[in-house]
Amino acid sequence: MQICVVGIGYVGLVTSACLAEAGNNVVCVDNDSGRITDLKKGVIPIYEPGLSEMVKRNEKLDRLEFTADLKYGVDNSLIIFIAVGTPSAPDGSSDISAILSVADGIAKYISDYRIIATKSTVPVGTCQKVTDIIKSKTEVKFDYVSNPEFLKEGAAVEDFMSPDRIIIGTTNHQVRKIMRQLYSPFMRKSSRILFMDPVSAEMTKYAANTMLATRISFMNELSGLCEKLGADIELVRQGLGSDSRIGSAFLFPGVGYGGALSERYPGTGSYRLRARC
Ligand SMILES: NC(=O)c1ccc[n+]([C@@H]2O[C@H](COP(=O)([O-])OP(=O)(O)OC[C@H]3O[C@@H](n4cnc5c(N)ncnc54)[C@H](O)[C@@H]3O)[C@@H](O)[C@H]2O)c1
Repeated sequence: MQICVVGIGYVGLVTSACLAEAGNNVVCVDNDSGRITDLKKGVIPIYEPGLSEMVKRNEKLDRLEFTADLKYGVDNSLIIFIAVGTPSAPDGSSDISAILSVADGIAKYISDYRIIATKSTVPVGTCQKVTDIIKSKTEVKFDYVSNPEFLKEGAAVEDFMSPDRIIIGTTNHQVRKIMRQLYSPFMRKSSRILFMDPVSAEMTKYAANTMLATRISFMNELSGLCEKLGADIELVRQGLGSDSRIGSAFLFPGVGYGGALSERYPGTGSYRLRARC
């Protein structure tokens, strides 16, 4: 399939490389022309096991190209993924200005039917905002899909190639068929594509992020309590995690949670999650 990915950061580059690896032709668009120049020279901005080789291999096979030209990407694709950043504002809200700016650009250049799929983590209701922006600027038909990403930094390629599940948020049956076809190479271990409406898909991503964050925060609180009361958090963790209703994943106490963009709450040892999870 002909694919365009807009925003070639962590999620965008991994998505592009993995989709190209599955045989698709992918145009990678980023408005950071320095990043595009580097990528064209083979400089990969992040380290993920297997990513660099995959990018180089698919570029050589002409299945992956890098450009700062959004029009070129829109013209040469059926599915346009939006994977730009949505960082937290100081008040904790998500800054979706990059998403809205890409929507604006797509509306400007779209000249034939396209599927527009959001991979970025966006507040519930962004699907409607993006749809409204594009509809207000063009008569050209398009469909919108909420397709949140769940990859983990450090295991991003592996997570994309063998995902626990893929969430496809659209009620359009033809679009569901196309998205299923796109993701079928990644469903060899299991066929866990979950179809739902876009609002539920957006909520699912936030629900997963906050559930994981809650487990880590809970373990950190428990660890403090254990220290005060003379219990061993490691033994408590094992006892807790061996309950099949609870499970052992994401039950390790530690510094907190987050990624490159996490930051400490002022005056405390705890981290708050900014953009990544
Ligand atoms: N990193 C993760 O582990 C992870 C996992 C799941 C979901 N997410 C979500 O995916 C989204 C992207 O995250 P990321 O970590 O890849 O971000 P990132 O900061 O690594 O990359 C974002 C890219 O978008 C580009 N960009 C910004 N505005 C643009 C525009 N108007 N046009 C074209 N390109 C533009 C930037 O130049 C940058 O290269 C976020 O919403 C994030 O919350 C991230």
